[in-house]
Amino acid sequence: MNVSVIGTGYVGLVTGASFAFLGHRVCCYDVDLAKIEALQKSIIPFYEPYLEILVDEQVKKKQLFFSCSLDEFFAQSDIVFIAVGTPTDPQSGAVDMTYLKKAALEIGKNMQPHRYYVVVNKSTVPVGTHQLVEELIKESLQVSGTKDVAFAVASNPEFLREGNAIEDVFYPDRIVVGTYCPKALALLEELYRPLIEQSFTLPSFCPQRPQNLGRVPFVKVHPLSSELIKYASNAFLATKITFINEIANLCDLFGANIDEVSLGMGLDQRIGPSFLKAGLGWGGSCFGKDLKGLIHDGKKMGYAAELLQKSLQNNYSQRSRAIYKLQQALKTLRGRRIGLLGLAFKAQTDDLRDAPALDLIEKLMESDCTVKVFDPVAMENLKRLRPQWPLVYAIDEYDLAEGCDGLILVTEWKRFHGVDWQKIHSLMKNPLLIDGRNFLDRQRLEAFGFVYSGIGR
Ligand SMILES: NC(=O)c1ccc[n+]([C@@H]2O[C@H](COP(=O)([O-])OP(=O)(O)OC[C@H]3O[C@@H](n4cnc5c(N)ncnc54)[C@H](O)[C@@H]3O)[C@@H](O)[C@H]2O)c1
Repeated sequence: MNVSVIGTGYVGLVTGASFAFLGHRVCCYDVDLAKIEALQKSIIPFYEPYLEILVDEQVKKKQLFFSCSLDEFFAQSDIVFIAVGTPTDPQSGAVDMTYLKKAALEIGKNMQPHRYYVVVNKSTVPVGTHQLVEELIKESLQVSGTKDVAFAVASNPEFLREGNAIEDVFYPDRIVVGTYCPKALALLEELYRPLIEQSFTLPSFCPQRPQNLGRVPFVKVHPLSSELIKYASNAFLATKITFINEIANLCDLFGANIDEVSLGMGLDQRIGPSFLKAGLGWGGSCFGKDLKGLIHDGKKMGYAAELLQKSLQNNYSQRSRAIYKLQQALKTLRGRRIGLLGLAFKAQTDDLRDAPALDLIEKLMESDCTVKVFDPVAMENLKRLRPQWPLVYAIDEYDLAEGCDGLILVTEWKRFHGVDWQKIHSLMKNPLLIDGRNFLDRQRLEAFGFVYSGIGR
């Protein structure tokens, strides 16, 4: 099939590269010319394991193309994915639909007569957006005077996790599709067949198929349900983390150990072990904006989603636990030199959207601290995003530790396990370590002389 993808960010690029790998011809479109020019040379604009080599292979095989404007290839597409950003409107908390609306209008404008298109919302969109997209395409077709075009709109939310995107897209837990149109449903089922049947083999450098993965459920639902499944999933996962963080804060007071509590809870099959890792709270581009979007839309319908509101608030206050723990240990923070181990909102990505590190840096600067930072891949992004911040960018963990009154581990990069902690200890002015991800071995660090504080440990 010919597949077009509108919006070549994390989701669009991974989607495009994956369908190209599965044998379809794919063109990824983006309004960002610099991004498209880089991608044409197989330069990936963000860090995502395995993606660069996958893209490069498909570009060389002429299965994957990139373009800035909807062209001849688009006109011949069978399936068009919309994967543009749907950020939060900072004023209202609503989902900002500007990019999505523009994309829908552009799609309508470029559709050709005597063809059938399936337009698929892969972006996370408010409930009801499939209707909006359909209306915008019709409006655009009317303006351009194009007749005899048949199209159907489907919702097909994406559940990939940054840093695990290839694994998540090729070995999904489920594929959710919502559409009224049986023909569109059949085409999408055909497109996804290799994933549903797991009838492909990824190159050996990619993550291999999990042993227990069988046929992947293709979940056919009403489009309204499909749109809500995505929001509800993210709201649930965010709240599960917020829940365990609250238990961790209680552990700190009771003297219990959250690792043990999570283990004992997670073995209950009704609860399950994932997302029971306490820490400084979640970040990233999705949880916050999706919670805000859902709360906002509920409010518009006269419903205050109080649990979700509290979940959101608690997550942001959880980030301050690190500051509270620093204050407990150091008393006044004024004039202290604090180092942040990790900046990205999670390991295996350079994404800083809604990253706890940003809040922590601001709070430390407000407290008149000197802030040193180190992250293996996200430092260039921070320099670009906050060029005005007077930070000390360290070249590695040892450079970071030098002269510090305290370190906060913010991102659970695997390499932090392997550093020479004895050397770090010797370089610090005061060997205080706040482990914001409960990632390090407390006993080992204490044996080196660190004053260690985790979250609920
Ligand atoms: N990042 C994730 O982990 C993730 C996971 C699941 C779902 N989602 C959802 O997927 C959507 C995309 O997220 P993302 O992280 O890939 O966003 P992103 O910001 O990385 O990428 C969006 C891209 O769309 C482009 N764009 C905007 N308007 C366009 C237009 N009219 N035509 C062509 N390109 C256009 C932008 O230039 C940008 O490159 C969002 O709705 C998000 O909530 C994201």
